[in-house]
Amino acid sequence: PAPGWSIAADVVVVGSGVAGLTAALRCEAAGLATVVVTKARLDDGSTRWAQGGIAAALGEGDTPEQHRDDTLVAGAGLCDEEAVRLLVTEGPDAVRRLIATGARFDESAEGGLELTREGGHHRRRIAHAGGDATGAEISRALVEAVRARGVRTVENALVLDLLTDADGRTAGVTLHVMGEGQHDGVGAVHAPAVVLATGGMGQVFSATTNPAVSTGDGVALALRAGAEVSDLEFVQFHPTVLFLGPEAEGQQPLVSEAVRGEGAHLVDADGVRFMVGQHELAELAPRDIVAKGIMRRMREQDAEHMYLDARHFGAEMWERRFPTILAACRAHGIDPVTEPVPVAPAAHYASGGVRTDSHGRTTVPGLYACGEVACTGVHGANRLASNSLLEGLVYAERIAADIARGDLPARVPQPLPHSDRPTHPLLPPEARFTIQRIMTRGAGVLRSAASLSRAADGLHRLHADAREALDENGKTAEPGVDTWEATNLLCVARVLVAAARRREETRGCHWREDRPERDDTAWRRHIVVRLNPDRS
Ligand code: SIN
Repeated sequence: PAPGWSIAADVVVVGSGVAGLTAALRCEAAGLATVVVTKARLDDGSTRWAQGGIAAALGEGDTPEQHRDDTLVAGAGLCDEEAVRLLVTEGPDAVRRLIATGARFDESAEGGLELTREGGHHRRRIAHAGGDATGAEISRALVEAVRARGVRTVENALVLDLLTDADGRTAGVTLHVMGEGQHDGVGAVHAPAVVLATGGMGQVFSATTNPAVSTGDGVALALRAGAEVSDLEFVQFHPTVLFLGPEAEGQQPLVSEAVRGEGAHLVDADGVRFMVGQHELAELAPRDIVAKGIMRRMREQDAEHMYLDARHFGAEMWERRFPTILAACRAHGIDPVTEPVPVAPAAHYASGGVRTDSHGRTTVPGLYACGEVACTGVHGANRLASNSLLEGLVYAERIAADIARGDLPARVPQPLPHSDRPTHPLLPPEARFTIQRIMTRGAGVLRSAASLSRAADGLHRLHADAREALDENGKTAEPGVDTWEATNLLCVARVLVAAARRREETRGCHWREDRPERDDTAWRRHIVVRLNPDRS
C-alpha cells in the first residue's frame, strides 16, 4: 500500500540495539535531525540478551594487535584485515565512550574493569555488566541517553522497503506502524541517509538464542533494494545453549561462553571432558570448533546434548557472576550449583550480512548498515566471541562521522512514486514455521549437498506457491508484521542456502559433511549476492 503519512529527517536509523542507538546518538550530537524506527519497543532487540560481554584490549599487557590476531584466527582466513584493524584499535576508546554515555560495567576489587575470557581469546579482555547481563545494561544506558537527548523515536514500526530517488540514491524507508497514534498504518520517513541496524536472522532456524524479532528484515530489505549481501552461509551456532528437548522451538536460553571462561568444563554422557586434546584451548577453542566437538560427541554417543559442568563454582560464585543464567536454569528445573547443565548448539549469529565498506556504506548510495545486519568483514567465516557488541559500537560511530562529513542534500529527497502493485508475494504467517523446519533440517550446524538441496527445494516450493497466487490474484496474504516477517525469512533463507550450496568446503562455522576440508585454493573468497530489485 502507498504510505499514508510521512516524516522528514536527515537520517533514519532502523533498529534500536547497540548499533542503532549509538549511531542515532552520534548523528544527533552532530546536529543531524535523526529518527529511530524500531519494530517493537526500543529495548526489544538482540542487544539486551547479550550475556558474556564486549571484547576490547583494555587489560594490562593486552594490545589491539593481540586482539586482532585472535579475531583473524577465529575468522578462518576470511576476515578483512583493515576492518579488523579499525575494530581493535578504535574499540577501547569506543568502550570508554559507552561508559561515558552511562553504561556501568563490573569492576574488580582494585577498581578497574573486571575482564573475563571467552572462546578464541588468549587473554582476559571481555568487559561485562551485572555479571552476565551485559547487553541489558548497555541497552538500558543507550535507551536512557536517547530519551534524555530527545532523539525522535517511532516504536512498533516494521520497516518495509527502501525508497530511492530518480538517481538511485536513498530517499528514506516505508514502514508499517501499529498503535502509535498519528503514525499508524503504512507511512514513510523521508531521509537522504538510512542506517540499517536491524540485527540478525536467527529466527530462520527452529531453535535460536535470538529473540522473536530477529527475522532478517534488514538483509531482506537490502536485497530487495539491490544492495550487495555477503557471507550469508556463515551462521554461527553457539555451542552451549540450554537444552530444553529435541522439539524446543523459538528463542532458547544462552549459557554464556564466559561460564567456560571462568573454568566450567564440557563433559559427555560419561562425564568425560571431550574437548581436551582437540584444541590447545580445549573448552575455550573458537566457537565453531567447540560446536563441532559437541556435535561429534553427540553423534558418537547417540545423545541429544552434552553437559556443562560448573558445580565447582559453588553457589556464591554462580549468584554473583552468572545470576541471569542461574535463574534461567532454575526456571527450567536445573540447578547448576548441584548438577551439570544440559547444553547443545543452537543458531546464534549471522557473521554475514549487507556488505559495507569501512565507513558502513553499502553499495546503494546513502544506505548504511551496522551491527549484525552488516558484513563489514571483521568476522570472516566465524565471529570471535564478544566482538559483536564492539563492532556495533565502533562502526556506528564511523557511520555517524561519515554522514556528518558528507554533504546531505539541503532539500527533502523526492522518492520515486510508490507502486501499488507488489513485486514480491507476501507469505502467510504460518510459513515461518515451515521455513524454520526446512532450514533446521537442511542448513543447520551440519550440512551436505543433499541436505542443502532438499532445503532449497522446500524453500522454492513456498516461493513458487506464493508467486503463483500473486500472479493470479495480484495479492497474496494480508500485509501485516507476521506476513512481512515470514516473507523476509524466506528471502534470506533462500540466499543463505544458495550460498551454502556454492561453498563446497568446510570453513569456520560453515560445516559441510561431504566436503570436510578447508579449501584455500578455491574458496578463500567471499560469496557476494545481489538480487534484481524487480524480481526478489
Ligand atoms: C556469550 O555470552 O557466550 C555470547 C557472546 C557472543 O555471542 O559474543
